[in-house]
Amino acid sequence: MQLAHLALSTLGLAALAVAQSNVSLDWIPFNRTQFDGNAALNTDGTVQLFWRLGEEYTTFGIASQSSGYLALGFSATGAMTGADMAVGLRGDNGSFVFENRHAAGFVTPQVSQDQTNNMRLIEGDQENGITYFIFEKKNKADCLTRQNDVFTDSWQWFIYAHSDQNTFAQHGPSNMGKEYVKLGTGNTVSVLDARPVNNTQEFIVLQPEVTIPPEETTYCYSLHKMPAGRKNFLVGERPVASSPLLHHLVLYACYVPADQLTDLLDKEPNCDWETYSNPCIGFVTEWAPGMSARTFEDGYGKPFGSDFYEYAMLETHYNNPELLVGETDAASYKFIYTDEQVGTEIGTLTLGNMQVNGWFMEPGKELVPVTTICTPECTDKWPAEGITAVSVFHHMHFRGRNMRVQIVRNGTEIAPLSTIRDFDYGYQFSKALDNVQLLPGDQLITTCEFNTMNDTAPVPGGQPSSSEMCFAWVDYYPLNSVLGCTQVDPGLSDPSQPHAAVGMCLVSTAPEPELYASTAFTTPFQQLPVIGDNCTSDALSVPGASGAAILNTCPETDVCFSLNVPEQSQSSGSGDIYFQLSAPTTYAWVALAQGTMMSNANIFLMHSSADGSNVTLSPRSTTGHVMPTHNDAADITLLEGSGISNGRMTANVRCSNCSTWSTGSMSLQDTSSDWVYAHQRGPAINSDDMNVAITQHDTEGGFQWDLSRATGGPDANPFLATGANTTTSSSSAGGAHSQTGMAQAHGAMASIAFVAIFPSGAILVRLASLPGLAWIHGGLQIFGYAVFIAAAGLGIFMANRDDYLQEPHAIIGILLLAVLFFMPIVGTIHHKMFKKVQKRTMWSYGHIFTGRIGIVLGMVNGGLGLQLANAESAYTIAYGVFAGLMGAGYISVIVFAELKRAKGSSKTSGTFGSDEGKRLDRQGSGSGSDQ
Ligand SMILES: *[C@@H]1O[C@H](CO)[C@@H](O)[C@H](O)[C@H]1NC(C)=O
Ligand SMILES: *[C@@H]1O[C@H](CO)[C@@H](O)[C@H](O)[C@H]1NC(C)=O
Ligand SMILES: *[C@@H]1O[C@H](CO)[C@@H](O)[C@H](O)[C@H]1NC(C)=O
Ligand SMILES: *[C@@H]1O[C@H](CO)[C@@H](O)[C@H](O)[C@H]1NC(C)=O
Ligand SMILES: *[C@@H]1O[C@H](CO)[C@@H](O)[C@H](O)[C@H]1NC(C)=O
Ligand SMILES: *[C@@H]1O[C@H](CO)[C@@H](O)[C@H](O)[C@H]1NC(C)=O
Repeated sequence: MQLAHLALSTLGLAALAVAQSNVSLDWIPFNRTQFDGNAALNTDGTVQLFWRLGEEYTTFGIASQSSGYLALGFSATGAMTGADMAVGLRGDNGSFVFENRHAAGFVTPQVSQDQTNNMRLIEGDQENGITYFIFEKKNKADCLTRQNDVFTDSWQWFIYAHSDQNTFAQHGPSNMGKEYVKLGTGNTVSVLDARPVNNTQEFIVLQPEVTIPPEETTYCYSLHKMPAGRKNFLVGERPVASSPLLHHLVLYACYVPADQLTDLLDKEPNCDWETYSNPCIGFVTEWAPGMSARTFEDGYGKPFGSDFYEYAMLETHYNNPELLVGETDAASYKFIYTDEQVGTEIGTLTLGNMQVNGWFMEPGKELVPVTTICTPECTDKWPAEGITAVSVFHHMHFRGRNMRVQIVRNGTEIAPLSTIRDFDYGYQFSKALDNVQLLPGDQLITTCEFNTMNDTAPVPGGQPSSSEMCFAWVDYYPLNSVLGCTQVDPGLSDPSQPHAAVGMCLVSTAPEPELYASTAFTTPFQQLPVIGDNCTSDALSVPGASGAAILNTCPETDVCFSLNVPEQSQSSGSGDIYFQLSAPTTYAWVALAQGTMMSNANIFLMHSSADGSNVTLSPRSTTGHVMPTHNDAADITLLEGSGISNGRMTANVRCSNCSTWSTGSMSLQDTSSDWVYAHQRGPAINSDDMNVAITQHDTEGGFQWDLSRATGGPDANPFLATGANTTTSSSSAGGAHSQTGMAQAHGAMASIAFVAIFPSGAILVRLASLPGLAWIHGGLQIFGYAVFIAAAGLGIFMANRDDYLQEPHAIIGILLLAVLFFMPIVGTIHHKMFKKVQKRTMWSYGHIFTGRIGIVLGMVNGGLGLQLANAESAYTIAYGVFAGLMGAGYISVIVFAELKRAKGSSKTSGTFGSDEGKRLDRQGSGSGSDQ
C-alpha cells in the first residue's frame, strides 16, 4: 500500500511511514474481503480505510478505535475547504446516523441537500469502542460546486476526524488528519513520503544564515554546487522546517556557463532581490506550506551533473508582514541521490505566469481568471512520441481559488492535464497525475482563478505574498530540453514596447528565452471557460406536474424543511415564497430562519396551537442570544395543509416579503442561500400567542439551499399539489422509534428510589422513635430496592441496546445494584449485634456508610443519567432541585444525628436521635434508633 503521512504542523514536513504489515486488522468489525484496497489513515493504524472501486460508485469502509462521531472527507488538497464529508455517529435515539456534509471553507461542514445520490450508507455501527461504517460515493459528482469527485484513477486526499462525542461539530474532534491515498492502479512515479532508497547518498543545500530584514517581502539567493559527476539522479526530497517566516523556497537549475556563476559561490546570500536577476531558470523543486517529503518510485529520478547542470540556485522567500526585527534563518533542503542510471529520467516543465510583475487583476470579484498559453511552437520541440506528465505542483498565493491546465490538440480541447478546485495556500502539494500523454503541437492553457473580494485596489502579480502568482510545474518523462513554455507581454516590463502577447519558450540549451509571435493568442481557445461544473443540470430536481420544484432538507432525522420559489418571484426578485416546517409532536417547537445564525435572522417558529389541533407559526427576530420575539413586520400566512396529524406538526407558509427583513436580505436567485434551524424537544406548548415564551433550543444548525433548484410553478401553495416534485434529502438514516417512554420510566423509578424512598428510610431511622422502627426502616428500604431493581432492569436493557454499558452512569448504577443487595443482610446482623453488645460494630459501620454513600451516589447518578439522555433542561432542573433539597435534608439529619451521638456518648446519656444511646428496644419488638 502506498501512503503518504503528513503531519499537520505549520510547515507540514514530518513524514512518517506506516509499516502496514505490522498493524493487525483483526479489530475491523466488518468483512474486509469485500474490499480491494486498504490504507491506514493515521500513524498508529487505529483509523483504517478500505475501498472497492466501481464504475459509477466506489464503496468505502472506514473504522476507528473510538466511540463517537467518525468523519471521512474527500478533499481536493487535503484541506477542509470544498471537501465532501461522510459522517457517521450514534444518534439520540440509539440508531446509527449517516450524513452527507460539505465544507464550504474552514468551517463546520454543513449538511448537504443531497443525502441520497452522492454518498449513501450501506451499514454502520458503534460498539465495543469502535465506530465504523460502509458507504458508497459517486465517483463523478452531480454538482462540483457542492460536491467532490473521487480520484479513482490515481491519488485521493482524505481527511478524517474522530471524537469520543456523538455530536458532530459541537465538540472538537480528539483526532484528525489528512492522508494522500492511491485508490487506483494507475502508474505513478512518486509518493509523498520519506522512504529509504537503496544505494543512495544524501546532500544538503544549505543557505548560510541570513537576518530577515523587517520588511514584508524578502527574497534571498544563494548558489550551491551539486555533487560532482557526469550524471546523478535526485530520487528523494526531504524539505526541512526552518523559519515560520519562510513563504516558499525554490531550487533552480543553472544552465548558464559555469564561469558566469562561480563568483557567486561561497558568498553570503544575496537578499537585494529587487535588483538581483536570478540567472538560473530550470526548475528543480520547491517547498511551500503543506509540502511534505517526496520519494520517486524505483527506476525514476531527476538527472543532474556535468551533462545537465552542476550548480543550483536556492531562492528563499520570507514573508514578514509584522516587520519582526532580528529574525534569522538558515534554510536547507535535503536530497537523496544516486549515481546509478535510472530507467526513466524525469524533467520539470514550468507553465503559468513567468512574467511575475506588471499585470493586475480587477478587485472586488468572486473569481478573476488569469490565463497564459503555452503555444505549439514550443511544444513542437518535444520528441515526436511526446511526453508523459506524471505530477503537477499548482502554486498561487492567498487569493488563489481554482487552477487548471487545459489541453487543445489539433483544434479540439481534450481532457485537461489537471484541475484543482478549492486551492488552499496552506495545503500545497505535488499532485499525482495518471500518466497524461502530451504531444508535440499541443497547446496548454493554464488558468488561475483568484478571489479579489477583499481588495479595493487592482491586485498586482508579483513576488510579495500580498501579490499573486500563477504557476504550474509539471513533472514528466522522458526528460527533454524544454524548461518553460508560456506567453509574455514585453510591453508590461518595457513601456516603449507595444502591448502584445508573444510566445516564450525556455530551453536548457539556449542561453536566452525564445520569444516569438503565435497564432495561439487569437484562437477561440485562448480563454477557455470553466470546465466540468454540472451544477446547472437539474440532476436532483426535476419539475413536477404543477411545475413547482420543491427543495426538501431534513437536517435531523425527523425534522424537515421545504421551499418553493414561484417562477414569478424568482424572475422579479421579490414576491411570495412558500416554505414548510414539519416535525413530530415530541418537539415543543421548531424554527426555520433565513440567515447564517439566529441573531439578525428572519425566524419562523412553529409550535402547537391553543386547542392542540393546529400549529401556531410566529415570525420572530432577535438581535442577540436572547429569546426571539414576535416580528410583526413579516408578511406571512399559514396555509391549508397546516395542522397536527399522525403525531406530526406541519406548517405550510407563504411569506410575501422574505427577500428583505429589518436586519438582512436574501436574493431569490441565490444559489447558496443560508438558512438556520433550531428546535427543542418537550411537551406541547399549546398556545396561539405569537410571543409565547420558549425555552432555549437543544439543537441549532445551518444549511444552504440553491434557490434555483427550488424555483418554478405558479404563485400558489405548492405543498398541496400532488404532482410537485420533491428533492428529498434526509440527513439521517435509521429508525425513528421512540424510546423516551422507557427512559422516562427508568428515570422516574430510579429517582423515586434514591431521592424519595432511601433517604426517607434513612431519615426516619435517625429522627423517629417508634416501636419496630428498625423493621419499618428495613421494609421501606427493601421496597426502595425493589423499585430500583425494576429501574435498573430497564436501564440495563437500554444500555445494552444502545451501547451505554461503559458509560459512568451505567457502571455506577450496576455497582449500586450489586452493593445494595447486601444491605438487608448486613443491616440485620448490625441490628442483632447492636442489641447484643450495645454499641456499633463493624457491621454497623458497613451498613451505615454503605447506605450513606449509596444514597448520595445514587442521587448524583440520576444527574449523570439525565445528562446521558440529553434530557430537557426542565427535567434536569426539577431533578436537581428535588434531589438537592432531599440530599441537603438528608445530610443535615445525618450530621445532626452524628453530632448528637458524639455528644451523647461522651456524656453517656441518650437523647432523641442518638442512635446507639441508652434507649433500647424496651418494647421488645425491636425499636428504632440503633442504626
Ligand atoms: C466476505 O465478503 C466476501 C466477498 O464479498 C464473501 O465472499 C464472503 O462470503 C464474506 N464473508 C462473510 C463471513 O460474510
Ligand atoms: C534494498 O536492499 C535490501 C538489502 O540488500 C534488499 O533486501 C531490498 O530488496 C532492496 N530494496 C530495493 C527496493 O531494492
Ligand atoms: C477576506 O477577508 C476575510 C476576513 O478577513 C477572510 O476571512 C477571507 O478569507 C478573505 N478572503 C480572501 C479571498 O482572502
Ligand atoms: C488533425 O486534424 C486533422 C483534421 O481534423 C486530421 O486530418 C489530422 O490527422 C489531425 N492530426 C493529428 C495529429 O491528430
Ligand atoms: C456533466 O453532465 C454531463 C451529462 O450528464 C456528463 O456527460 C458530463 O460528464 C458531466 N460533467 C462532469 C464534470 O461531471
Ligand atoms: C390550520 O390553520 C390553517 C390556517 O388557518 C388552515 O388553513 C388549516 O386548514 C388548519 N388546519 C387544521 C387541521 O384545521
